[in-house]
Amino acid sequence: MNKPGYLIAIEGIDGSGKSTLAHEIKKSLARQNREILLTQEPGGTELGSKLRVLLHEEKKHICDQAEYLLFATDRSQHFEQVVIPALEQNKIVISDRLADSSLAYQGYGRGLDILMIKQINQWAMRNIEPNLVFYIKLDFKTALERIMLRAQKLTSFETEQELFWERVIKGFEAIFKNRDNVVTLNGTNSIEELAKQATQEILNRV
Ligand code: ADP
Ligand code: TYD
Repeated sequence: MNKPGYLIAIEGIDGSGKSTLAHEIKKSLARQNREILLTQEPGGTELGSKLRVLLHEEKKHICDQAEYLLFATDRSQHFEQVVIPALEQNKIVISDRLADSSLAYQGYGRGLDILMIKQINQWAMRNIEPNLVFYIKLDFKTALERIMLRAQKLTSFETEQELFWERVIKGFEAIFKNRDNVVTLNGTNSIEELAKQATQEILNRV
């Protein structure tokens, strides 16, 4: 059930460079005659901002199923309030994370039922799928170094053990292996190089 606009998701582990890339793409696309909306999960709505605080800071009180359902709640509100209206106005919507983060983190990372997550994601997203997904592939050690340099308080996810990150990275690889709407970017490339490549991919398609 696709809408007139163009929906792009940027995925990858924490510290892989998603939000930097999202902002760079927006700048590069500014010359096109098309409105761009930058948004994020979790947190693209007022409800989402509250959920983001809960999920980042109070993880120890939240079981894995509830954690996923909170991301799904955020997603549902995000689609209703932000993504769908923007697509209906023919905007290019760039979201820093979308449904595939739940498959990688809650499915592969926490071990929850993948099929169940897929079904609830589809329902929350009203059967809308991203037209294009950028997967920024980066190893855990480099990502962690960047997170440490970022000078922000670590989130509950960022304090997870290396084994968790290995499962999440394997998860992303498994999810994206046979998908034709995914472009994998090498996260060790410079910000300029990544932005150039991603912008070109978008211009080739829209
Ligand atoms: P994410 O949104 O995936 O958590 P960020 O965009 O916040 O990642 O980037 C994490 C840190 O790494 C930031 O300090 C950012 O400036 C830096 N960074 C982002 N992309 C690159 C890159 N391609 N090369 C080197 N450093 C980068
Ligand atoms: P955020 O600060 O946006 O991540 P990043 O460090 O990559 O910029 O925090 C979001 C956290 O929530 C991040 O650790 C990934 C996690 N997450 C999930 O576990 N499942 C999801 O469905 C989503 C959208 C995010």
